[in-house]
Amino acid sequence: MQPTKSLENKTAIVSGASRGIGAAIAQGLAAHGANVVLASRKLDGLKQVEAAISQAGGTALAHACHMGKADEIDGLVAAAYERFGAVDIVVNNAATNPFFGPLMQADWGVWDKTFEVNLKGPFALSRAVAKRLIDQKKPGSIINLASIAGGRAAPMQGIYGMTKAAILSMTQTMAVELGGAQIRVNALAPGLVETRFSAGLIANAEIKKMVLDRTALGRLGQPEDVVGACVFLASDASAYITGQTITIDGGWSAS
Ligand SMILES: NC(=O)c1ccc[n+]([C@@H]2O[C@H](COP(=O)([O-])OP(=O)(O)OC[C@H]3O[C@@H](n4cnc5c(N)ncnc54)[C@H](OP(=O)(O)O)[C@@H]3O)[C@@H](O)[C@H]2O)c1
Repeated sequence: MQPTKSLENKTAIVSGASRGIGAAIAQGLAAHGANVVLASRKLDGLKQVEAAISQAGGTALAHACHMGKADEIDGLVAAAYERFGAVDIVVNNAATNPFFGPLMQADWGVWDKTFEVNLKGPFALSRAVAKRLIDQKKPGSIINLASIAGGRAAPMQGIYGMTKAAILSMTQTMAVELGGAQIRVNALAPGLVETRFSAGLIANAEIKKMVLDRTALGRLGQPEDVVGACVFLASDASAYITGQTITIDGGWSAS
């Protein structure tokens, strides 16, 4: 995708920006002119993405933040405003999936961790930024990373799937409640994308073949495949789009 200046003078917070889809999105937003605040738990990975963005001529700030911890999320928003004076775009990308197995065997610790990081954190970050945007009478764009697993059964990943279904519900309700303030809220629903997150699934030859056999485009997704739709939803090119989900799965859900 050719870089444009469509996001110039905008600031974005991207959670889970140290690797995988979040790192690709952060670099994509920066290439289109946005200042990007990079968040995840470990500063080391974020610093590498920060350096790559500055080397490419962009502007980024690395800030360690655990998306399951409300006080750290408040600190992230404060740091973004302190450095850039505004936040116009939020990409809720960080997520966790600590349990692979049937729902009957999942324990409450796994449930709590998955819901805290995948749902409560994105809710807290979106609300904190939306409140400021409303106070400042400024428009904004919130983009939530859902998953094709949120719209159907997700055997062996059931709790993760439930958090992604809830993300889709949150996206629609926030879109309706915040539309009057010109804050748009949309979701991206990737299929299987090659990252550390999905490495276990892809290493299983049977699962990989099942996915590839059903994927119209005949290949697995790469983090870069998610970037264009995110830049589009962040920019004014999507000014009349809210409450929607863009599925990025190479045609998997079409068959
Ligand atoms: N890969 C897929 O096949 C796929 C498919 C559909 C949807 N998705 C969604 O796409 C998003 C990104 O996934 P990915 O595949 O790029 O994952 P990934 O490569 O594992 O990256 C996850 C990112 O989230 C951060 N993170 C993890 N736990 C965190 C926490 N508690 N607080 C803050 N940051 C945290 C990680 O950094 P730290 O370790 O430094 O915290 C890392 O930057 C997720 O929402 C995922 O559900 C992925």
